[in-house]
Amino acid sequence: MSSLFSPLAIGPLTAPNRIFMAPMTRCRATEDNVPTSLMAEYYAQRAGAGLIITEATMAMAGNAAFWREPGIFSVEQVDGWAKTVEAVHNAGGRIFLQIRHGRRACHPLLNSGSQPVAPSAIAITGDDVRTPEGKKPYVLPRALDDDEIPGIVDGFRTAAENALAAGFDGVEVHGANGYLLDEFQRDGANKRTGPYDGVREHRALLMFAVIEAISRVWRSDRVGLRLSLLNSHDSMVDSDPIGLASWLAERLNSFNLAYLHVMRGDILGQQSGDVLTPFRAGFKGVLVGNMGYSGAEAERAIEAGIVDAVAFGSAFLANPDLPERLKEGAPLNTPVPSTFYTPGAHGYTDYPYRPVT
Ligand SMILES: Cc1cc2nc3c(=O)[nH]c(=O)nc-3n(C[C@H](O)[C@H](O)[C@H](O)COP(=O)(O)O)c2cc1C
Repeated sequence: MSSLFSPLAIGPLTAPNRIFMAPMTRCRATEDNVPTSLMAEYYAQRAGAGLIITEATMAMAGNAAFWREPGIFSVEQVDGWAKTVEAVHNAGGRIFLQIRHGRRACHPLLNSGSQPVAPSAIAITGDDVRTPEGKKPYVLPRALDDDEIPGIVDGFRTAAENALAAGFDGVEVHGANGYLLDEFQRDGANKRTGPYDGVREHRALLMFAVIEAISRVWRSDRVGLRLSLLNSHDSMVDSDPIGLASWLAERLNSFNLAYLHVMRGDILGQQSGDVLTPFRAGFKGVLVGNMGYSGAEAERAIEAGIVDAVAFGSAFLANPDLPERLKEGAPLNTPVPSTFYTPGAHGYTDYPYRPVT
């Protein structure tokens, strides 16, 4: 397992290993989207990760996609996150905040009755969203006006400033999983006319503007980006994901990012293809792979130069001491999906582990 445990430079930081914790929404914040002390405990338990990437966090008010997800737009939220950051740092870890706009998944029952927004008025189908009134189908979003876009870029910039104030080591821009930047980018969800229309360069404009704005707050090599061009979760599709990956790989070099984090497949198994190869061929920076890796496959992928690090999701959720277990070849706890999004410590901070000493 030597390649998994060789240090990796991420901008000015050094990750002591290449086993990252993937971002995972766990819905343990308060009703007002304030991070709790339980969250600080959860992340500190996982401080042995080369890098922790937090759960998706609402960059700006009024766009909650999950009930009890955290935000980073109020003083209380910044203070709440500061406690998590402190706990992770005290335990010897490094932590980036994943920031996102919740887009067409923002049910009115989670957002004071307001209609969600999207690049185009196309609803998510085939899935439900949890609300205080039970599970509900997604609603039809309203297409954003062009003149609303600068306000969204500004919201991401403010979120990045707040992340800096909370003491994070960096931020990850959520450009994946059908959230707003991904919706603009993939042509199945973007049917706009005008400056952000379906032309590939135009579809990426919002994401590039967000990265640029955040890179004026943080040095750019403390800004990561997550992409999932094959993931069909939440009714997402693109007509040419591999071509898009090749184009983005080259184009993203100009931003001098901390890393590019790629979900390599489709959680629903509907779309297939190899996006890692074009990303590796064109992108000159640190490439983080994710999705369905075992420790052994991660080790081989790093050794072969396919990726530089691997982010583990459900395995890290269930194994706070995942790096130690992989190093020793110890058995892994099994994740329990019924507690992924439920309140409280059960299924959250009570997976058995050996604390890092
Ligand atoms: C409970 C849960 C919550 C998730 N929440 C997020 C999230 O907030 N942001 C994100 O980019 N991906 C999210 N994901 C996707 C994971 O980051 C990861 O891509 C996925 O679990 C596949 O990796 P794995 O096979 O190692 O689990 C979530 C996954 C799970 C299981």
